[in-house]
Parts: sequence; C-alpha cells; structure tokens
Amino acid sequence: MLFATRIAGVAPLLLAAASSVYGATTESTTTTTTTTTTTTGQSTFEVDLNKTASVKSAAKTIAKHLISYYTGNQPGQTIGILPGPPPDGSYYWWEAGAMWGTFIDYWHYTGDSTYNAVTQQSIVFQADAPQNSFMSPNWTASLGNDDQGFWGMSAMLAAEVNFPLVPGEADWLEMAQAVFNTQAAPDRHDDECGGGLRWQIYPSNAGYDYKNTIANACFFNLGARLARYTDNSTYSKWAEKTFNWIRDVGYIDKNWNIYDGGHVPQNCTDINKVQWSANAAIIIHGVAIMYNMTEDAEQWGKPLTGLVNRTLEFFFPKGILVERACELSDRLLCNIDQHSFKGYLLRSLATAALMAPDLVREPIVKAFKTNIEGVIDSCLPDGTCGYRWNVGKYDGDVSNGPAGQEMSALAAFTTYLITEEHEAVKPLVTNNTGGQSRGNPNAGGTPATVMSMSELTERDKAGAGVLTAFVVCSILGTYFFLATGIGEMRSQN
Ligand SMILES: *[C@@H]1O[C@H](CO)[C@@H](O)[C@H](O)[C@H]1NC(C)=O
Ligand SMILES: *[C@@H]1O[C@H](CO)[C@@H](O)[C@H](O)[C@H]1NC(C)=O
Ligand SMILES: *[C@@H]1O[C@H](CO)[C@@H](O)[C@H](O)[C@H]1NC(C)=O
Ligand SMILES: *[C@@H]1O[C@H](CO)[C@@H](O)[C@H](O)[C@H]1NC(C)=O
Ligand SMILES: *[C@@H]1O[C@H](CO)[C@@H](O)[C@H](O)[C@H]1NC(C)=O
Ligand SMILES: *[C@@H]1O[C@H](CO)[C@@H](O)[C@H](O)[C@H]1NC(C)=O
Ligand SMILES: *[C@@H]1O[C@H](CO)[C@@H](O)[C@H](O)[C@H]1NC(C)=O
Repeated sequence: MLFATRIAGVAPLLLAAASSVYGATTESTTTTTTTTTTTTGQSTFEVDLNKTASVKSAAKTIAKHLISYYTGNQPGQTIGILPGPPPDGSYYWWEAGAMWGTFIDYWHYTGDSTYNAVTQQSIVFQADAPQNSFMSPNWTASLGNDDQGFWGMSAMLAAEVNFPLVPGEADWLEMAQAVFNTQAAPDRHDDECGGGLRWQIYPSNAGYDYKNTIANACFFNLGARLARYTDNSTYSKWAEKTFNWIRDVGYIDKNWNIYDGGHVPQNCTDINKVQWSANAAIIIHGVAIMYNMTEDAEQWGKPLTGLVNRTLEFFFPKGILVERACELSDRLLCNIDQHSFKGYLLRSLATAALMAPDLVREPIVKAFKTNIEGVIDSCLPDGTCGYRWNVGKYDGDVSNGPAGQEMSALAAFTTYLITEEHEAVKPLVTNNTGGQSRGNPNAGGTPATVMSMSELTERDKAGAGVLTAFVVCSILGTYFFLATGIGEMRSQN
C-alpha cells in the first residue's frame, strides 16, 4: 500500500484501498491530526557527534527500541512482518521490508551484528522460496510493484554490503534478481502512457490504472544496482529506459521536482504533483549508482546534481528534514507509511554522497549536520524518537507508526557516520570486488504467483474489499487537502 494516498486527484482517492508502499492507513488516519502536543519536559538524549563510539551508541539505543515493534517471531505471528497488514495491525507488508534494510545499514555502518539473525530470517522467509521474488499469495491484496520493490531493494543492499548469507537458502542477489525479473517480465508492461510500470501488479487491485513514480523508481533503482553489481548491461538498459520514461512523462520536471504519478485513462497527464521524500530517495539513489558506474557527467551527473540540490532545498527547510506534503506546521497528516519516509531519504543521500563525492557529498554532509541536531532534540533518553525534527523536543507522536519514525531516527544516526569526523565507511561491493552473493540471472521464473481471478477474489474478499469501503470513508476527509492544496503547501481546513 506504499503510496496509496498520494493518488489524490478526485475519484482516485478510491485507490487508497489498494495496498502499496505509499499506502493509506485505515483507522489510524483519523487520528493523525491529534498528535504532537504532549511532552514531559526536556529530552536529554546525549550524543557527542564528533565521537564515533557515541554516534554508534546512540544508534544502538534506537535500534533496540525499533526492534521492540517487531513481534513476528512470537507464537502465532508471521515471521518477517510488522503487526499488520490492516486490519490485522497497523503496518502494511512492505514496511517491514524497509525496516530490515534499515537494520542491514545499521550493521554495515556500525558493525553491530545484534539484529543480523532476525534480519536474515525475515528476508529469507518473506522472499517466499522457491521463487524468492517476495510475492507470497498472503499479500496479494497489498502487493504493488513498489511493495515488492522495497523488499527487493533490501535484498540488494544485503548483497552490496556482504551481509552474511544463510547457508542453504537463496542468496541476496538472487532475491533481488527475482524481483527485477518479475518486474521486467512482459506481463508487467504495456504501452499505455508510452511505457512504465503500473503501481499495482494485479488488475483486481485498485490502483492498477495508476502509473506512478515509486513503482518505476524502485524498478529503476534495482536495475541500476544490479547492473553495478553484476556488470550485466541488461539491467542498465532497463534502468536507463525507466528513468527516461519517468522524465518524459513529466514526473520529474525541469526544476528537478519529483511528482507522484498519473492515470492511464488520462495518458498519465493528470500528474499528481505531491512530492514525497521517498520518491526522491529511491530516484536519487539510482541516479548516483548510474553516475558512479558510467561516470557520464551529462546523462547522469547533471540529473544527480540537480535532484540533490532541489531535494535538499525542498525537504530541508532551515536545514532539517520535513515531509512537507503531510507534516504541516499546524497539523500532522502523515499516515503510518509516510512516517517512515525520512529514513529512506537520509539513507539514499548517504549512498549518493559515497557514490558521487565530487558532485554531491558537500551539500549532503552539510544537511546531515544541521538535521542531526533536530533528530537528537526529538529523542528521549531511552531512544524513543519523535516524528517532527524541527520542534526542539520529543513531539509525543505515537499514533501513526512509531516504527516508521524510529527507522528514520536510526537512519539519521547510522548515516551520520559518513561525515568526516568518522572513519571511512566500507565500500559497497560488486561481484568483482569481493561480493559473496552470486545470484541467478534467471531467478524469479515464471510468475507462478499470478493467481486466477477466482483465487484472487476468494482470498481478498476479507482484505481488499473491506479495506476499500473503509479506507475511502476515512481517507476522504483527511486527504482531500492533499488533492487540492498541496502545490501551494497552503494550510486550509
Ligand atoms: C566537533 O568537531 C568540529 C571540527 O571537526 C568542531 O568544530 C566542533 O566544535 C566539535 N564539536 C564538539 C562538540 O566537540
Ligand atoms: C502466509 O500465511 C500462512 C497462513 O497464515 C502462514 O502459515 C505463512 O507462514 C505465511 N507466509 C508468509 C510468507 O508470510
Ligand atoms: C501518451 O503519452 C505518451 C508519453 O508521454 C506519448 O508518447 C503519447 O503520444 C501520448 N498519447 C496520446 C494519444 O496523447
Ligand atoms: C542549489 O544550487 C544553487 C545554484 O547553484 C545554489 O545557490 C544552492 O546553494 C544549491 N542548494 C543546495 C542546497 O546545495
Ligand atoms: C564511485 O564510488 C566510489 C566509492 O565506492 C568512489 O570512490 C568513486 O570516487 C566514485 N566514482 C565517482 C565517479 O564519483
Ligand atoms: C562473479 O564472480 C565469480 C568469482 O570471481 C565468477 O566466477 C563469476 O563468473 C562472476 N559472475 C558474473 C556474472 O560475472
Ligand atoms: C544478464 O541478465 C539477463 C537478464 O536477467 C540474463 O538473461 C542474462 O543471462 C545475463 N547475462 C549474463 C552473462 O549473466
């Protein structure tokens, strides 16, 4: 359900029912506006930013808090996922995929392997062998290309950092290839809007007629990284084609703003101009990889510089990261999914700084240094961190996916280790530079999990159908704002 709510427009609010990375939340949506006020005095989260050990220790405290939201390995729960998906719990399936990626980065940046075993177990389990393409029929009702993509990108990260492999199981690269192959398969592509992936995988899911940035960004990102890791140009060709499509269709404008998507019946010209940090994150990451690989200043260097510049300007007003589409000064409209977005942007910017130091490292490090002060202020001594980083204290926001904001806070500390006060971060490996993941170019096979209509209907009756009715009701009120006022960021009621 990753990006559901952004499907604004008017009727498109219906799409909130499908479930993809930018998902709508259900009951919690209505409570989003009631956050923010309660604090009990000063937060005293102590960190010495010049001391590597202190930054790592801060990350450790937050990581411990983050894992407390995971109950998947308790009896009766599902391994690998956060409580959900709605209505069984708050979190859509994709978000756990993103969380394990956050923990992989945690290990990579800090060397603390405390969460490696649970991360390995979770990714392997949700990859759903033997296909290993993260398409378990359990999640059909909430499976968009972006949802699948987020798990695939975490598997890819595992390969790039030489995250320990699990003997006897599919390796990380193979999982990323399986996701890529299912997304590159003919059944995911058509000529509507001149190309591009649809948001949803299954025609039965609301949102199938939306071709959005995040679905294509994830595919682009994976293609770029697979190309770098394997040196196989099939992946880079897809990456290039996909990035060009995103630009040609106008989802990235000439000033490097990144918009959300458009609908097939309108030939994707009804662009929803809401800007999310997660879209910027996944695109910038992919462009930085393409630049590093090709060293092409014109084709990839210019877009990278432009995108990073615009992203820092837009999302870091006063030097602190703000999710401007929903984190308004007087109200918080961010749903559970959106509460996790900031972390992806920080992690992607860190990678971009490492992949293209000459072009973008300086402004990114500068932003990290101002931003971290806000993050520190937002945390309590036990590692509970708030969502807002620009209010100088813990904001008491617990009603919308505390796991998401905790992931973001963790990312803020781990990525801070790229600044010059700290030892050099280990490079991302490739097959030729020490990568242990060997992969399988044919992973994923035929999309065996594309179920017949009757199976789908049966399975999703309880999921999609109920959600549709419910979400549409609750979302309309809150998100009409997004559909209308987002361009001006105006505050209306
Ligand atoms: C951290 O180091 C920078 C220079 O690298 C210095 O300007 C700053 O004062 C130091 N901060 C603390 C708290 O020691
Ligand atoms: C899918 O759901 C079934 C039934 O609840 C469960 O046994 C299985 O472990 C789940 N698989 C995944 C990949 O979550
Ligand atoms: C639809 O959009 C694509 C991509 O922008 C464009 O190439 C095509 O000409 C458009 N088709 C129509 C009928 O406008
Ligand atoms: C973006 O680019 C403009 C023009 O080169 C520059 O003045 C500005 O400082 C840049 N912003 C950031 C955040 O790097
Ligand atoms: C590519 O990334 C490596 C770090 O992995 C970095 O040392 C190198 O300078 C980068 N190349 C370019 C062109 O920026
Ligand atoms: C990856 O590296 C291994 C070991 O060097 C080599 O045998 C294999 O052919 C490489 N795979 C690819 C796809 O290049
Ligand atoms: C490159 O990747 C493509 C797509 O997965 C695959 O069909 C092809 O066999 C790969 N080539 C090599 C040399 O691994």
